[in-house]
Amino acid sequence: MNLRSKRLNLFSSAVFYELSNLTEKRKQDGLPVFPLGIGSPDLPPPLHSIDVLREALLDPSSFSYQRTEGLTDFRACISRFMAAQYGVQVDPECEVLPLIGAQDGLSHITLALVDPGDIVLIPDPGYPIYEVAVHLAGATPYFYPLRGEHDFLPDWSMIPSSIAERAKLMILNFPGNPTTVVGSRRVFEEAIHFARLHKIAIIHDAAYIELQFDEHQTPSFLSVPGAKELGIELHSLSKTFNFAGARVAFAVGQQDMLEALRIVKSQVDYGIFMPIQKAAMATLDNDRGHHRSLRAMYQERRDQFLAPLHAAGWDIRIPEGTMFVFAHTFGHDSRTFARRLLEETGVVSVPGVGFGPSGEGYVRFAMVTSKDELSDIASQIAKKIDRLRNRQT
Ligand SMILES: Cc1ncc(COP(=O)(O)O)c(C=O)c1O
Repeated sequence: MNLRSKRLNLFSSAVFYELSNLTEKRKQDGLPVFPLGIGSPDLPPPLHSIDVLREALLDPSSFSYQRTEGLTDFRACISRFMAAQYGVQVDPECEVLPLIGAQDGLSHITLALVDPGDIVLIPDPGYPIYEVAVHLAGATPYFYPLRGEHDFLPDWSMIPSSIAERAKLMILNFPGNPTTVVGSRRVFEEAIHFARLHKIAIIHDAAYIELQFDEHQTPSFLSVPGAKELGIELHSLSKTFNFAGARVAFAVGQQDMLEALRIVKSQVDYGIFMPIQKAAMATLDNDRGHHRSLRAMYQERRDQFLAPLHAAGWDIRIPEGTMFVFAHTFGHDSRTFARRLLEETGVVSVPGVGFGPSGEGYVRFAMVTSKDELSDIASQIAKKIDRLRNRQT
């Protein structure tokens, strides 16, 4: 008896599955494994937010069901944060919606906005939930390519008009996972121009907005004129404040889109656990400078990781943001390369093809351990660079 829906076939995770099996096997064989696959932060959230969380846990009323739209105070706090951090004004009553992680918003927004037959423009390579969410809604994804030769930026002129006419929604993601490019105000302006022309709504996934390096300072999408009329932006505390497992994020922007998302969510969840909302409020109000130390830390990690690899001749593009490094695979197929890398060095990476067809030819590393360890890991890879470059199977 087949108990599974046909829909499940659309969620192929073969790329990740194969590598995680090999990784498990290595562990069982007692061989070293350096997990740079998943982008889960290795550091705790700001400590006083944990105090707030602990205190809230002792209050019995904390355990009641919550409202999808979150505490009024939490929405007000998000509005203050957007104004202070990005100069963006959002009305806490109708332009803010708390989320159980950005993933919650991304996976439900398509149910709220698109129908079978509609097209959703998604970045390729891009975070896998974008495509999954389109399938969940029975709509059709159209991968707009982000290619290294084009600095991993979209080129809207390449989208056929027949596609643009059927597109109802587009997803942007800067700083981008896995591409690591941060975009710019200009990139947002071009997207808004294209979206207006074809009556397309925009979701900007800003999960890594605080992780921009060197001189890069791409602003909030909502600070660009016209953005709030056709789009929403998703922010997450997962990376910026190391809250990943606590599952708290928020969407801000166009009120009809947010209301549609709220309606879907009101059928599937009961909001965010109150102690988490309180801890998030403590952080958003008091730790607005946290990102400065976080940026410096990830930038140092990036540099320590890249130095031995660049010295060995692996000309990896320097990430402008995020917690990732997106490295070409010397022309080898990304799954084979990631497997070899694991076999030769114990380093776990993610094959680029897992992020979409244009991710082929790359692997992604997550900078989720100390800079010293990253430097050691990179030195180990550097020693094997000729074998990795040349091996055919
Ligand atoms: C681009 C991107 N968007 C969204 C998310 C999900 O974030 P959250 O933990 O808030 O669900 C991730 C997580 O890795 C991500 O890389």
